[in-house]
Amino acid sequence: MKTRQILLILLTITIAICSCKNHKARYVIGVSQCSDDVWRSKMNSELRIAAFYYNDVDLHIVSADDNMHRQIKQINDFADEGVDLLIVSPLQKDVSHAIERAYEKGIPVIVFDRRMDSDKYTAYIGADNEQMGQNMARYLSSIIKGGGRVLEIGGLSSSSPAIERRKGFDKEVSRHSDIKIAARINCDWTEEGAYRQTDSLLSAHHPDFNFVFAHNDRMAAGAMRAAKKHGVCGVRYLGIDAIPQKGGGMQMVRDGKLTASYIYPTRGDEVMKLAMDILGKKPYKKENLLSSALVTRDNANVLLMQNEELERQASKLISLRERVESTTNAFDTQRNYLLVLLLLVCMLIGACALAIKAYMEKARFNKQLKQSMDKQKKMTEDMERMTQRQLQFFTNVSHELRTPLTLISGPADQLEECNEISDGNRKLVNMIRRNANILKQMVSEILEFRKVQNEKAKLSLNRFDLATEVSAWANDFNAVAERKGIKMSVDISGKGSHLIIADKEKVAHIYFNLMTNALKYTPAGGCIATVVSYGQGNVTLSVADTGKGMTKEDKAHIFDRFYQAADAVGGTGIGLALVKAYTDLHHGKVNVESEPDKGAVFTVILPDTQPDYNAENDKQNDIHMESGLVDDYTAKDSKTEQNAAAITGIEDYDNNRPLVLIIDDNTSMRTYLKSILAGNYNVIEAQNGEDGLHIAQRSVPQLVVSDVMMPVMDGLQLCSEMKGNTATCHIPVILLTACAMDNQRAEGYATGADSYITKPFSAETLKTRVANLLDNRTMLRKIYSCSEEENREESSLGERDKSFIEKLRKAIKGHITEAEFSAEDLGTEMGLSRVQLYRKVKALTGYSIVDLLRKARLAKAKQLLETTDMNISEIAYEVGFTTPSYFAKRFKEEYGKSPGEFRE
Ligand code: FRU
Repeated sequence: MKTRQILLILLTITIAICSCKNHKARYVIGVSQCSDDVWRSKMNSELRIAAFYYNDVDLHIVSADDNMHRQIKQINDFADEGVDLLIVSPLQKDVSHAIERAYEKGIPVIVFDRRMDSDKYTAYIGADNEQMGQNMARYLSSIIKGGGRVLEIGGLSSSSPAIERRKGFDKEVSRHSDIKIAARINCDWTEEGAYRQTDSLLSAHHPDFNFVFAHNDRMAAGAMRAAKKHGVCGVRYLGIDAIPQKGGGMQMVRDGKLTASYIYPTRGDEVMKLAMDILGKKPYKKENLLSSALVTRDNANVLLMQNEELERQASKLISLRERVESTTNAFDTQRNYLLVLLLLVCMLIGACALAIKAYMEKARFNKQLKQSMDKQKKMTEDMERMTQRQLQFFTNVSHELRTPLTLISGPADQLEECNEISDGNRKLVNMIRRNANILKQMVSEILEFRKVQNEKAKLSLNRFDLATEVSAWANDFNAVAERKGIKMSVDISGKGSHLIIADKEKVAHIYFNLMTNALKYTPAGGCIATVVSYGQGNVTLSVADTGKGMTKEDKAHIFDRFYQAADAVGGTGIGLALVKAYTDLHHGKVNVESEPDKGAVFTVILPDTQPDYNAENDKQNDIHMESGLVDDYTAKDSKTEQNAAAITGIEDYDNNRPLVLIIDDNTSMRTYLKSILAGNYNVIEAQNGEDGLHIAQRSVPQLVVSDVMMPVMDGLQLCSEMKGNTATCHIPVILLTACAMDNQRAEGYATGADSYITKPFSAETLKTRVANLLDNRTMLRKIYSCSEEENREESSLGERDKSFIEKLRKAIKGHITEAEFSAEDLGTEMGLSRVQLYRKVKALTGYSIVDLLRKARLAKAKQLLETTDMNISEIAYEVGFTTPSYFAKRFKEEYGKSPGEFRE
């Protein structure tokens, strides 16, 4: 998992922890009070305290303030909000619809204190109001002395307690004849209501009464005020509720204002318990009646004291609860902080782990990198050491070569000037001299390069006009270029004298190498353009050719030492490396622009001056390009083909010298080979495998001597092509190579080469090898002799030649009776040209086609003489002779006897 993802997850968890502040209440309970008075506020606070106890309850208490519509709306709202349970004290029975609706929605409903019309509620809890009315009447009867006339002040007439209390009261009063109901009024449960109603009763004509039974203490107090107003005395008051709060019914009883009151129990704790039982799916009763008690002057004080104690406990409980809550909050906050802290620690640990992992991975990677770099460095060092050793070896060899080379080229120079040698020998001497010079040039390039490598090469500074010099140097290449059919141009841009300070010899060397390279790779008909230009303290010398160009890969390495392009034509791979080295020595730059088949442009940019030039040390020589050397380096002699064509004419063929084809891309080598073989053979030449193959097929030489390494088609391919062709498969091939390796020799033989000569070789070796191959070639001299020897000779032929002979025999046999059947006809039948057939047959049998045909005819005649009775003339005609006398003459020549003597 990515670090960023881990951090994101941790962050989400942190936010979640912080957001889950205090635990959410499990239950939401809606409480709808019909009114707001002391009794109800007592009950509300009991509900709240009980809710503390249950801890996971959220109480929502609202009051309708004696307004029925408000209560209906409040109940509907609770139902729509989806409270878990509803506790309702219905103002009057009309509220039933709203309660039913909530109940039908699946919300459990507890009806308390007042009843409703329907039974669509979950449970009812409250005091037994009827019993309460009855008890009050009973108590009244117990205290009446001399009859009681009662003013009954009922609660809201449509509310159940008012109805039930009256019912109970009436029931009991009916049993007591001394108690009379003097008057009845109904109020709205409030003190004010009772005051107004009593006031209006007293204001009018009214029955006499000495007791007031009010359905609650508040209404009794209202009646008391009205009576006082009207100066009515001697009336005793009874009420209901007996609230122990200050100014409540219980105190009024204690203080003698009320004669008695009845405790109308609030019991918020019981209501809450019932609610929790319902929500907790515990067993509960639908009807729950709360017990109650009469309060008189006798017990009021005790009850008040008990209540005080209860209230003290309750307030303690509340303060405890508050403390618990604040502690819980503090705990919650601290827990959250702790969790966040824990999370941060986890994140930190995670980050550390990741950092350590990354560090270890990096360390491991670095270690691997270092190992591979060390390995690479060691390989580079090893390679460099090997290269240095090689270079040292080359240097040593080159040094050693200098003396013998001088001793070759010196005497060769002297010999060439000597008048007494023949023209042929002079050519040989010239070849010795030129090749010694090439070697000298190579040797000095290697030594020079070594010098640069060892940082021993120094600039010997001259002041010269580069334009003039380059023009002169280019001139020296004209002859070579012309001979090769290449156009040369020199373009000097800018006017006036362009003096520069540089090492003239080294600059000349740069130019020589660039030109040599261009001449090597530019075909006849191409162009080589030299451009010299000046500008901004630099001089630019470029050589552009229209040669075959080079690949990207070659371009990248062309200035590396010993680098040779895949199709390089000879060379050591030092020339261009030296160009770069010399340019570097001059603090210049060299580059090449080239693409395959689009030529190449080499550009050398040199600063026009060099530091530390001293005119006194400026010893300049005229430098000439060794164009002869270039000729030899880049040789691709067009004369070869002309020579070859001159020799291949059939007319020249029929002499006693066998025809030998020499194939080599080096002109000097061809000349040398020719000089060795020309004394004994007809020699023709080709400059590469492809030309050689064409010439071999056309001219069918007796033997081929071919170099292995050649452009266009190498010697190995040439050999296998020749051996696969009927016209040429019999021709022995000698391969010449500079590689003395066994596997290359094996490769040569695998292509069908007959002999392999490693360069350098002596003239004698070549001569002997050629002679041996020609002498030892298989010849069917005994053809048509029907002898053992004939069979042996034939079986030693190659497969291709065997089938050729077989085909040849068949063709001759088929036409033996035809006197007109000629060599040409036979050639056509064999699928070869007349020359090809002639030379192939001559090479394989030693006979011309005419001789072979005659031999076949005579052999057939001999057989007819032996096996038939035909006369001699008949036989002569039968085997294609036109005159019997000529037949007899040839027969005698062949077999030593005339046909007649033979038959005898
Ligand atoms: C309080 C009260 C009490 C009375 C009861 C009847 O609102 O008026 O005084 O006993 O309601 O429901």
